[in-house]
Amino acid sequence: MANRGYFSGRIGFILAAAGSAVGLGNIWKFPYLAGQNGGAVFLFIYLLCIFLLCYPVMVGEIAIGRRAGLDAYGSYQKLGGKKWGYLGLFGIMVGIFILSFYNVVAGWAFGYFLHISFGDLLQEDNMGSFFGLFVNDILDLSSTKGLANSNFLFSLIFMAMTAFIVARGIQKGIEVANRIMMPALYVILIGIIIYSLTLPNAMAGVRFYLVPDFGELKIQTVFEGLKQAFFSLSLGMGTLMTYGSYLKKNENIASSAAVISIADTSVAFLAGLMVFPLVHFLQFKLQVTEVATAGPPLIFIVLPQIFQEMGVALGRVVGGLFFLLVCFAALTSTISLLEVPVAYLVDQMNMERKKVVWGIALLIFVVGLPSMMSQGMVPFLNKLTFYKGQDFLVFVSDMCDISLTVGGCLMCVFITYQWRIHNMNEELEEGNEGYNRSFLKKYLNFTIQYVCPLLLGILSILIIIDKFFGIENVF
Ligand code: PHE
Repeated sequence: MANRGYFSGRIGFILAAAGSAVGLGNIWKFPYLAGQNGGAVFLFIYLLCIFLLCYPVMVGEIAIGRRAGLDAYGSYQKLGGKKWGYLGLFGIMVGIFILSFYNVVAGWAFGYFLHISFGDLLQEDNMGSFFGLFVNDILDLSSTKGLANSNFLFSLIFMAMTAFIVARGIQKGIEVANRIMMPALYVILIGIIIYSLTLPNAMAGVRFYLVPDFGELKIQTVFEGLKQAFFSLSLGMGTLMTYGSYLKKNENIASSAAVISIADTSVAFLAGLMVFPLVHFLQFKLQVTEVATAGPPLIFIVLPQIFQEMGVALGRVVGGLFFLLVCFAALTSTISLLEVPVAYLVDQMNMERKKVVWGIALLIFVVGLPSMMSQGMVPFLNKLTFYKGQDFLVFVSDMCDISLTVGGCLMCVFITYQWRIHNMNEELEEGNEGYNRSFLKKYLNFTIQYVCPLLLGILSILIIIDKFFGIENVF
């Protein structure tokens, strides 16, 4: 087989995997989920999921990838035979669907970055209707101030940037991009937090975010926390398996996974600390007790309103930086998503990397079109009758969320009954000499063989029941 390439070392791998993890999930989804689900209570559940369920799955996933040294399909197939290969294929399909809708939202963020920094979006008087029109008419060929309004175009460009990076290979493409974007992301994030904490009424936001209200604890909080943790850590579909296959043998998997988990969780936490003071600043300015913070409106409607309140000049800078941050976060995730099917075709079909990258990127862009058109343009996709009237993008995203926890559960079953836990331990001992005598080994073996498959299995079933029938109606 041709030389597949490697990350240059531990830092390169960790940055790339953390880059995959840190994304729209952290900056867009986490703050509003936390807001909807009782703030600190949600944070608590989320952390519990990470410790107990996600960290072990992450270690296992990377170990499988590094041991096999292949793409997601190849890894399962090499260590477990053809049947298990299908689990890898399932993961690859899920990755394709995630990227298909993820790239649409990334395109919106890219469009907003351009319109705020270089256009006159901040002069808009109704951000809500602007967003509505913006996502609705994807082919809008008119332009404001020389900037196109078509988010078909923005998504296409975003996918092209993703493909450009992935086509350059592991070290020169993926690693270099993450080495630039990840530190920049942290700097911008911390800069905006410091600024937002100085705004009037900021502390009310912090309090809302951090003081728990256990009255809010519902079973759905657990579901949301678990799904969000899996999505946010890029687990359960083979991203980290694929990245793991480019990790050298002398690197310590268990400690790398810990750093990745902590990096991802800290960005999610910090994103909340950035957003809620801003939201409460707006409430103070508008003299209202509440502004809608759920779903897309949060970053595409509420935040731009806040940047507007700052005045055009400052708003351009802070707002522009904010959307640049979102674009960086999204891009380091889209490249990891694209790498999964690319690795599969390169490893299994011996195809040429560059051609595969551009071909698959185009294909996924096309798969994403229904999601893009589901925001108003095509009424049928906007209100799915079989899915409680939700739109197609939400439907695909929900199905992917469920597939991730199911994938994680089956991966633990694979390690326990097929590959065998002692083989995983052998892989984890590489690059980590004391591992066999450590408490960590006991913890990982216990969680991967018993806790994860059981809890992930039960919770996945409950999540599916809740999605389609509403859990209250069933129990
Ligand atoms: N973890 C990414 C985010 O939080 C999304 C993602 C999911 C990326 C699965 C890769 C695989 O936005």
